[in-house]
Amino acid sequence: MPRVLTGLPANHAAPTLALPLLLLLPLLVWTPLPVSARRSAGTDYLRRGWLRLLAEGEGCAPCRPEECAAPRGCLAGRVRDACGCCWECANLEGQLCDLDPSANFYGRCGEQLECRLDAGGDLSRGEVPEPLCACRSQRPLCGSDGRTYAQICRLQEAARARPDANLTVVHPGPCESEPQIVSPPHNIWNVTGQDVIFGCEVFAYPMASIQWRKDGLDIQLPGDDPHISVQFRGGPQKFEVTGWLQIQALRPSDEGTYRCLARNALGQVEASATLTVLTLDQLNATGFSQLQSMNLVPEEEAESEDDYY
Ligand SMILES: *[C@@H]1O[C@H](CO)[C@@H](O)[C@H](O)[C@H]1NC(C)=O
Ligand SMILES: *[C@@H]1O[C@H](CO)[C@@H](O)[C@H](O)[C@H]1NC(C)=O
Ligand SMILES: *[C@@H]1O[C@H](CO)[C@@H](O)[C@H](O)[C@H]1NC(C)=O
Repeated sequence: MPRVLTGLPANHAAPTLALPLLLLLPLLVWTPLPVSARRSAGTDYLRRGWLRLLAEGEGCAPCRPEECAAPRGCLAGRVRDACGCCWECANLEGQLCDLDPSANFYGRCGEQLECRLDAGGDLSRGEVPEPLCACRSQRPLCGSDGRTYAQICRLQEAARARPDANLTVVHPGPCESEPQIVSPPHNIWNVTGQDVIFGCEVFAYPMASIQWRKDGLDIQLPGDDPHISVQFRGGPQKFEVTGWLQIQALRPSDEGTYRCLARNALGQVEASATLTVLTLDQLNATGFSQLQSMNLVPEEEAESEDDYY
């Protein structure tokens, strides 16, 4: 795939043709584009694409490496430009790329990445699959920073973003560590008679077990309480387990602090959330807006970091 290796005559173009063509660019950039650029650095990404296209049309001038601008901060590494002369930043995972290796509009994918049609879109709703850089490997790795990376491309991206950290692969598979609570339970309020659910999403390797407890009670829930139930399921991500605590037909005595405890051989972590139970009288007296200002309304779930799971 890399044209770099095909021994093109050492040619280069960008600097020599830059001036006349830059004058044309504003016109070109405003023409409607066939595809949207995902994860791109906005117009800069497309500008580079148009420059490449124009460079190709012009043919390549003799390569003068000393005139090449040194690309910096290339998170996916560097590749040779369309003329096989200067280095430029390779495209990252998730960025658009050219399926046809002889085309060079969107640019080349970096090391360990390949250009593939993205089957992730909703094809039934008329979405057109886009060619995106995808990692050749989907195997998780443990980095020397003690973090688990979904695959080698994520680790390399992180390593290039922080060169001083000397990030390397320690071993394949996730890092063994105490559990991490990816999504903790949130504070909840509701009125008597309603049902509430707390959730707790945990990443761990080796896998964790989850327990629910209520402060002040010396038992593991649900105990023998028929209006409380707990449920566990693997996922939603690999090496995760999610637990739910459901309390049906709330009573005032259910109010309190509930704790999700996640444990494996390496340690234990916990996260807690409060349950506030209001009677209808209290609700009428308090008013909804006041409750909102007390921050008892559950917040939107935070997005989980996707390079770390
Ligand atoms: C990374 O490696 C360099 C050279 O081997 C060393 O000087 C530096 O302290 C290392 N940095 C860390 C964070 O280990
Ligand atoms: C109270 O519970 C009901 C059903 O269990 C739910 O539909 C409602 O949104 C909850 N109210 C609040 C404020 O969370
Ligand atoms: C709460 O207020 C609503 C109307 O504002 C009323 O219909 C309802 O009966 C009241 N409930 C109680 C328990 O006071």
